[in-house]
Amino acid sequence: MADLEGLKASKDYHVDTPFANQDGFFLKGINHLDWGMKKHMANIFNPKSGNTVMFAFDHGYFMGSTAGLERLDLLLPQLAPYVDCFMGTRGAIRTCVAPETAKSIALRVTSGSSMLQDDLSHEVVAVDIEDAIRMNADCMAVQTFIGADGQLSSIDNLSKVINAGMRYSIPTLGVCAVGKDMERTDRFFKLATRIIAEMGVQIVKTYDCENFEEVAAACPVPIVVAGGKKLAEQDALKLAYNVMSKGAHGVDMGRNIFQSEHPIAMAQAVCKIVHEGYTDKEAWDFFQEESHK
Ligand code: 5RP
Repeated sequence: MADLEGLKASKDYHVDTPFANQDGFFLKGINHLDWGMKKHMANIFNPKSGNTVMFAFDHGYFMGSTAGLERLDLLLPQLAPYVDCFMGTRGAIRTCVAPETAKSIALRVTSGSSMLQDDLSHEVVAVDIEDAIRMNADCMAVQTFIGADGQLSSIDNLSKVINAGMRYSIPTLGVCAVGKDMERTDRFFKLATRIIAEMGVQIVKTYDCENFEEVAAACPVPIVVAGGKKLAEQDALKLAYNVMSKGAHGVDMGRNIFQSEHPIAMAQAVCKIVHEGYTDKEAWDFFQEESHK
């Protein structure tokens, strides 16, 4: 362990310099991986824009039935045309996503906590790699609690899933968790996202924060950003635009889509930002038009 005394704060992120070592494949940090990994990544991320709109509906894994997600069987087919990737539990995906749906799948593989507890940071790997293979999962999502009570076990979970994923060429999505008492500063996100990336994941999911461009620049694999708590639609579109213009490769949005009065229009508006370079203002105009149809 390095001596921490006199440690210098990192400062030079070269935010305007593109990621080096990217020739040959369109996503940063993936160039040296094999065909199977690249194929899964190209299923998740649109090779034309280089970005993804993931729709997160895995909230039931610790929240049970959530407002907006009461009937996944009805919601998911409506949203399918407007998102690139479905992120959910195997129970939700097997029961509510038709196998004919041509969407990539981000399979939530950790579990173990519920809203009834104060500390949500203790989880286990709840899905065998064989089941992820059977489901043709494009990536496996692991909740990772850096700085929390459950840090050690969540790093253990993350390592096990990455090791299994490397055996069968299935990417791992490391989800940077923010527990109730954990800070949401750029200092925290720089630390947590980089630890998660250095463990060997192929995708990191995190949150917007001050100096997000530095968080993204220092992360050697693509970052997708969670929507977080429900915001007014205009603010959620601003968030999406903000992170995309600062180096994110997409969003992994849940409540800001499924709790919108107009989830389909919202998913479409987010897509416009992520894939077509709309500004938040253009996407907001689009949303208003679509939601009045
Ligand atoms: C839980 C998750 C959720 O999928 C994630 O938070 C996305 O949903 P939202 O946009 O509602 O925050 O990973 O940790």
